[in-house]
Parts: sequence; C-alpha cells; structure tokens
Amino acid sequence: MTRILVTGVRGKTGVPLAELLVARPGVAVLGGSSSPATVDIDGVRPTDFSWDQPSRWSAATDGIDAVYLVRPDRADAPELIGAFLAATPLPTHAVLLSERDAGQVAPDGWALRAERAVRSSGRRWTILRPSWFMQVFTDPRFYRDQLVDTGELPFASGGASVAWIDARDIAAVAERALLDEGHAGRVYELTGPESLSLPRTAELLSRATGHPVVHREVSIGEAVAGTDGFERELSVLTFERVQAGIFTGVTDTVERVTGRPARTLQAFLADGGPALTGPV
Ligand SMILES: NC(=O)c1ccc[n+]([C@@H]2O[C@H](COP(=O)([O-])OP(=O)(O)OC[C@H]3O[C@@H](n4cnc5c(N)ncnc54)[C@H](OP(=O)(O)O)[C@@H]3O)[C@@H](O)[C@H]2O)c1
Repeated sequence: MTRILVTGVRGKTGVPLAELLVARPGVAVLGGSSSPATVDIDGVRPTDFSWDQPSRWSAATDGIDAVYLVRPDRADAPELIGAFLAATPLPTHAVLLSERDAGQVAPDGWALRAERAVRSSGRRWTILRPSWFMQVFTDPRFYRDQLVDTGELPFASGGASVAWIDARDIAAVAERALLDEGHAGRVYELTGPESLSLPRTAELLSRATGHPVVHREVSIGEAVAGTDGFERELSVLTFERVQAGIFTGVTDTVERVTGRPARTLQAFLADGGPALTGPV
C-alpha cells in the first residue's frame, strides 16, 4: 500500500488530487487539514495537519511514501517546509505546489527559497509551477461574488494576457508525479492551453453565466486593497508579475505529463458555470 499525505486537502488542488488518488488501487490517502473534522471526501482519511503545530507533524507523516505540499503563503514558508520535510521518512517523495516562473518572485527570493527547501531536503522531489487557477472565478474568496453581484471582473492586468489553468489539471500532474516513475528532480511549468486577455476572459464568463461580465482594469493598489503585511507584499508582486507577462506564456506540460490536453476556460466554465449564476 502506498501512503500519501495530501496537505491542503480541502483546497483548490487538494480536493481533485485526493479524488484522483483514491481511485488508484493500492493507495491510502491521508487528507491533511488544520480542520480535519471538516474533511469529507470518500475514501480519504482525515488527518490533523497544521503548519502551526510542528509537534503533530510526525503523527501525520508516519509511514508515508509521498507528500503533496501546498506551499503556505507566509514569510516563514521556506523554513517551515524545510523543518517539515526533515520530519518525514527518508524515502518520501515531496511534490511541491509552487508558482509560475518562481525564479522571478521576490521578496527576498522567497518562492525560490521555498523550492530550495524541497530540493535540499534529501528527499526525492518534484516542483509544480502553475499559472493562475481558473477556480479563482468560482471561489468566493477571490472573484466569484463580484462576478455574480456586480457583473464586474476587476483585475490589474496592465494589458497582459493570462494562461489560466484548471486546478484539476494541476492535480492530474501531481497524481502522476506522486505515483509514477520519471518525475523526480523535475520542475514543471504548468498552464492552460491558451492565453486570454482580460476582456476576452470576461466575454467567456458572460457567456457561461448568462449575464454580462465586464473587465474593469484597476490599479495594483486597488487590487490588493484590504490586505497587509506579507500577504500584501506578495499580492503586489503577483500583479507586477502579471503585468510583466510572466503568466502569459503557454506550455504543453499538462499534456506531456498526463497524456491529454489541458482544459480550456470554456470547458472549465461549462462544468463550473452553475457556481457563477445568480442575480446581477
Ligand atoms: N490561486 C491561484 O491562482 C494560484 C496560482 C499559482 C500558485 N498558487 C499557490 O497555490 C497555493 C494554494 O493557494 P490557493 O489560493 O489555491 O489555496 P487553496 O489550496 O484553495 O487553500 C489553501 C489550503 O491551505 C490550507 N491551510 C490553511 N491554513 C493552514 C494551516 N495553518 N496549516 C495547514 N494548512 C492550512 C487550507 O486547508 P485547511 O483550512 O483545511 O487547513 C486550504 O486547503 C499557494 O501557495 C498559492 O500561492 C495559487
């Protein structure tokens, strides 16, 4: 039996990854969450895992063969990841969810340092560097409520296009990396199959939701309003990266790793559209 710990199992990539893994014979899936009582995925064993509780890490990682690490977006992530991996059994294969072109991410080389903590852990590793997730349109913590309530997509694009990716495709790559040979020591830059301007993205959202959605170009300051500290620094930098075109390029990595093309935004919205319908 292969034991795999999926951190962030309630999150955008964690849910589809856990669903793929439980469908594979001979795999025991431990669903890591800081709120394990709320983990409700058939076949997944809820597992108490919090970045804030290092004393409980060894119970969560006991006997595991592999771990899917959702990088915590906090200043001490590189140190936490390093300390966590040091507490895992030696044969563990770590698959880290990082972000597109992480070499370009300051402050202080933070994203690269998080990756380096994995690379230098003495464990086998694979690094996933995805573009922006399509699920930001259906997640109330991101754009969902604004899309539904006001028909607006406020986004600081600076005119750049974004190669949105379906989190299910990231999960499909992670599944292969966790279970199959040939992925150790690889860094995968992951995108959807096309790069879309924000006006074009809004047009596709309009069609899917059945009501008008328009892109409103906002300043980076407006885009990050309501955040502070490290979260604000990271969000500012993310939009600077958007405007520099870091998320524009398209790769074929999803297809190369999984054998089928990455999903289009239209396909994603055909499945996820109902989450976006509502009064405007
Ligand atoms: N969203 C994007 O477009 C995008 C693009 C590229 C890269 N990324 C990266 O992907 C990662 C995930 O981002 P996301 O926004 O999609 O989040 P998400 O996976 O939807 O949710 C974050 C997860 O973190 C877990 N979590 C929160 N506090 C925790 C704690 N103290 N200890 C352990 N786990 C905790 C939550 O699970 P519990 O509450 O169950 O613990 C939740 O499942 C981030 O590193 C982000 O930078 C995101």
